[in-house]
Amino acid sequence: MTTASALVTGGAGLIGSHIVDAALARGWDVRVLDSLERQTHRDGKPKWVPAEVEFVHGDVRNRRDWERALDGIDIVFHEAAYGGYMPEIAKFIHVNAYGTALMLETIRNKNLPVRKIVLASSQAVYNEGAYTCAEHGHFYGETRPVAQLAAGDYDMHCPICGRVAVPVPTDEAAPMGGENVYAISKADQERLVISFGRATGIPAVALRYSCTYGPRQSLFNPYTGVIAIFCTRLLNDLPPVVYEDGRQSRDLVFVEDIVRANLLVATDDRADGQIFNVGTGNAVAIGDLARLLAGRLGKEIAPSIPGEYRPGEMRALISDISRLAQLGFRPETDLATGIDRYLGWIAEQGSVAEYFSAAARRLRARQVVKRAREAAPA
Ligand SMILES: NC(=O)c1ccc[n+]([C@@H]2O[C@H](COP(=O)([O-])OP(=O)(O)OC[C@H]3O[C@@H](n4cnc5c(N)ncnc54)[C@H](O)[C@@H]3O)[C@@H](O)[C@H]2O)c1
Ligand SMILES: [Zn+2]
Repeated sequence: MTTASALVTGGAGLIGSHIVDAALARGWDVRVLDSLERQTHRDGKPKWVPAEVEFVHGDVRNRRDWERALDGIDIVFHEAAYGGYMPEIAKFIHVNAYGTALMLETIRNKNLPVRKIVLASSQAVYNEGAYTCAEHGHFYGETRPVAQLAAGDYDMHCPICGRVAVPVPTDEAAPMGGENVYAISKADQERLVISFGRATGIPAVALRYSCTYGPRQSLFNPYTGVIAIFCTRLLNDLPPVVYEDGRQSRDLVFVEDIVRANLLVATDDRADGQIFNVGTGNAVAIGDLARLLAGRLGKEIAPSIPGEYRPGEMRALISDISRLAQLGFRPETDLATGIDRYLGWIAEQGSVAEYFSAAARRLRARQVVKRAREAAPA
């Protein structure tokens, strides 16, 4: 596709705004649909939304806003979503599932000539990561029972022998069924878009992003973005609060790698109808991440590990990216480089407030975060 007109929903946010830049760099016409969710954009429209994009200040839950946003569009990058560990339940379903359904209904009812839909899905749609037992080999983990977590046992155990299992890269065949409302709503979005694509013949692709970070990740939102939350804590001389025992791990991917995956599947027909993991193929333990960030910021602050956990959370997720690699994808930014670029950006933002403490109290009150009966082993 040489020139195209692209709609980026959520184009003021972390991932969407970088997709906007990449699409403009290709000479595409770009429109953004974004509600400027207050949790994420406390100061209104961010200055990184370029003047040359057409900015539709609207909501994916509003049919009129979709009609305006989709008019004349070839490619949709649907990034807008309600995300993270928020205390709401209904809003996730409303923004993510209903909002996506409304997009599809608008395309169908208006018979719009959309040529491609790329959906931001998430690794959260999996139950758990894949593991291996020294004796029984490969298996896909099940969500750990709350009773196990409450007892301070955070490991994934082999379902046959009970031995502690080791995380291995998770491929797209892993069972879906993440047990929190965000995960359920992302799975809904993915199934809606892929099945709509099959039914209508409009090429659709879903990308299951790993934990994404980088410049422009909201410094205001205390519910999402582990690197952003840890950094704002450390910059206020407070310890990052690490759940479980700190050995849970995540595949942290730099935003520009996520963007390259988006542009790749948007322009390569071989991707049509498919679902792809996007990550690095490497994982870092969250406790180590907290220590790494403290080191980079020159703070001698050890993480706080109070023995809390979030029901429904995964123990480990390493993205198996071989399916997307077959189309030529390769992550380019390693964690140390990506973190330095993020910290460089934070340094330009002036003083940074800390919103996590108040949020953590709300989450405890609503049992999104719980404390184990026994303190976790150090
Ligand atoms: N950041 C991650 O770690 C991660 C991981 C997996 C998947 N994802 C997915 O990637 C997408 C983008 O995430 P992000 O990290 O850039 O988040 P973000 O919060 O930085 O950006 C999301 C944008 O969507 C907008 N938005 C929210 N609700 C809206 C609504 N009702 N109508 C219109 N706009 C709305 C927000 O104002 C924001 O600008 C989301 O779909 C998210 O679920 C993100
Ligand atoms: Zn075993």
